[in-house]
Amino acid sequence: MKKVIWFKCAALLLGSAAFFFSAVVNSQEPKPLDPKAWGATHAGKPVPEYITGDQCLFCHRNTIGPSWAMDGHARNLRAREDAPDLLPVLKAQTALTPYDKQIEYFLGHRNVMRMLMKDGYGKFAILNAKAALVTDAKGGKSATRWQGTEKLAWDKQKFYLQCAGCHTSGVDTQAKTFSAFGIDCYMCHGEVPDEHPNKPELVWFSKKKRDDKRVIISACASCHLRDEGGSVKSASTRLPYPNNFITGDNLFLDLVVDWKRAEDEKLNAGDRHVWRNVRDVGVNDEKMTCLSCHQIHEAQGADATLRHRRQPRAPICFDCHSREEGKFKEVVRYVVKSSLCEY
Ligand code: HEC
Ligand code: HEC
Ligand code: HEC
Ligand code: HEC
Ligand code: HEC
Ligand code: HEC
Repeated sequence: MKKVIWFKCAALLLGSAAFFFSAVVNSQEPKPLDPKAWGATHAGKPVPEYITGDQCLFCHRNTIGPSWAMDGHARNLRAREDAPDLLPVLKAQTALTPYDKQIEYFLGHRNVMRMLMKDGYGKFAILNAKAALVTDAKGGKSATRWQGTEKLAWDKQKFYLQCAGCHTSGVDTQAKTFSAFGIDCYMCHGEVPDEHPNKPELVWFSKKKRDDKRVIISACASCHLRDEGGSVKSASTRLPYPNNFITGDNLFLDLVVDWKRAEDEKLNAGDRHVWRNVRDVGVNDEKMTCLSCHQIHEAQGADATLRHRRQPRAPICFDCHSREEGKFKEVVRYVVKSSLCEY
C-alpha cells in the first residue's frame, strides 16, 4: 500500500515536471521561420547598369569619401597604383621578379595578399602564390611566409569559379564577367535611383530605409557566409556565391545554406558570429542584426563596433567573450581563416 502511494506521487511529480519543462521549452524555443518565405530574387535576370562608386563619390565625397578610403571593403581589391603599401612585399620576393610587370591588382591586405592580372573584359587571372602578411606599428607590411613561389602559374578559371561574386561587383553568370573590380557602393546599397536626393527612402541603408532586418541580413550575408565543404551554394549556378543578388532581394531564394555551420565550434569567432547572427534572424526571427553592432561609414577600428557594447547579452556574445562568471569583458582571441579564400 505504502509503495503504491509512493509510486502515484512520483508519477504525479514527474508528470507535472514534464508539463512544466515542456511549457518552458515551448515558450523559449521560437517557431523556426522559413527563410525563403518573403521577397524576390534577381537570379538569372540581367545584371543592371548601375551608378559606379566614383559617380556616387562625386556627390558624396565630403561625407562618405574620407571613411571610405580607409574602409576594408574599399581596400580589399585594389589596382596596383592604389596599393603602395603592398608593393614592398612584392618587390622583396625575388622569385616574383619575372611576373612583376604582369601583376596589375592585389587582393587582400590584412592577413594575406594575392595577385591578379586582367584577362579580357571583366575577367581576372589569379597567381597561385600568396603571402601571409604582418603590419608593423607604422603600418608597414611584410610577408611572414610565402606559398606557391616554387612553381608559379596564372590560373584563368579559378577567380570566376570561386572568388568573383564577393570580391568584385555586378557579376554576370551568363557572360562569366564582372562589371567593376572590388566592392562598389552598389554591392550594399543596390540600385540607387537618380531622384534619390529628394527621396532618400528609395535607397537601402539611407536613414529612412534601414529597418528591415531580413534585408540587412541578406545583404551582408551575400558575401559574409563563406563556403566550407559545400555549405553555401547558389541553386542556379552551383557557384559558392550568389547569382545576381541585389540588395532588397531575399538571398535564400537562390542561395542554399547549411545552417548547421552556425553551430560549428571549430569555426573561428569572426566567421561564427556572422553565421549565428544570420541564422538567428533568418530562421529564429531575432532582432539583432549586423548593424546593431557594426557601423560601416563614419568609424574605423574598435570605434566601428562601439555600438555592440550596448547590446543586451545573448548567446552570440560568447563567440568572443568569456563564459566565466565575472570575466565577461575578457575577449577570446581568434584567427580568421577560410578554406574558400585560401588563407
Ligand atoms: C562568399 C563570398 C566569398 C568568396 C566566394 C570568396 N571570398 Fe574571399 N573574402 C570574403 C569575405 C567576407 C572576406 C572577409 C572576411 C573577414 O575578414 O572576416 C574575404 C577575405 C578575403 C581575403 C582577405 C584576407 C585579409 O584579411 O587580408 C582574401 C585574400 C580573399 N578573401 C581571397 C579570396 C579568394 C582567392 C577567393 C577565391 C578562391 C575568395 N576569396 C572567395 C568572401 C568571399
Ligand atoms: C559594406 C556595405 C556598404 C558599402 C560597400 C557602402 N555602404 Fe553606404 N552604408 C552602408 C550601411 C550599412 C549604411 C547605414 C549606416 C551605417 O550603419 O553605417 C550606409 C549609409 C550610407 C549613407 C548614409 C549616411 C548617413 O548619414 O547615414 C550614404 C550617403 C552612403 N552609405 C553612401 C555610400 C557610398 C557613396 C558608397 C560607396 C563609395 C557606400 N555607401 C558603400 C553600407 C555600405
Ligand atoms: C548627383 C549627385 C548624387 C549622386 C551621383 C549620388 N547621390 Fe546619393 N544623395 C545625393 C544627395 C544630394 C542626397 C541627399 C542629401 C544627403 O543626405 O546627402 C543623397 C542621399 C543619399 C543617401 C541617403 C542619405 C541619408 O540621409 O540617409 C544615400 C544612402 C545615398 N545618397 C547613396 C548614394 C549612392 C550609393 C550613390 C551611388 C550609387 C549615390 N548616392 C549617388 C546626391 C547624389
Ligand atoms: C560584396 C561583398 C560584401 C558585402 C555585400 C559586404 N561585405 Fe563586409 N567584407 C567583405 C570583404 C571582402 C571584407 C574584407 C575587407 C578587407 O580586406 O579588409 C569585408 C570586411 C568586413 C568587416 C571587417 C572590417 C573591415 O572594415 O575590414 C566588417 C565588420 C564587415 N565586412 C561587415 C559587413 C556588413 C555589416 C555588411 C552588410 C551591410 C557587409 N559587410 C557587406 C565583403 C562584403
Ligand atoms: C553582437 C554584436 C555583433 C553582431 C550582431 C555582428 N557582429 Fe561582427 N563583430 C562584432 C565585433 C565586436 C567585432 C570585432 C571583433 C574584433 O575586433 O576582434 C566583429 C567583427 C566582425 C568582422 C571582422 C572579422 C575579422 O577579424 O576579420 C566581420 C567581417 C564581421 N564582424 C561581420 C559581421 C556581419 C556580416 C554581421 C551580420 C551577419 C555581424 N558581423 C554581426 C560584433 C557583432
Ligand atoms: C566578434 C566578437 C565579439 C562579439 C560577438 C561580441 N563582442 Fe563585445 N567585444 C569584442 C572585442 C574585440 C572587444 C574590445 C574592443 C571593442 O570594443 O571592439 C569587446 C568589448 C566589449 C565591451 C567593452 C568591455 C570593456 O572592456 O569595457 C562590452 C561591454 C561588450 N564587448 C559587450 C558585448 C555584448 C553584450 C555582446 C553580445 C551582444 C558582445 N560584446 C559580442 C568582441 C566581441
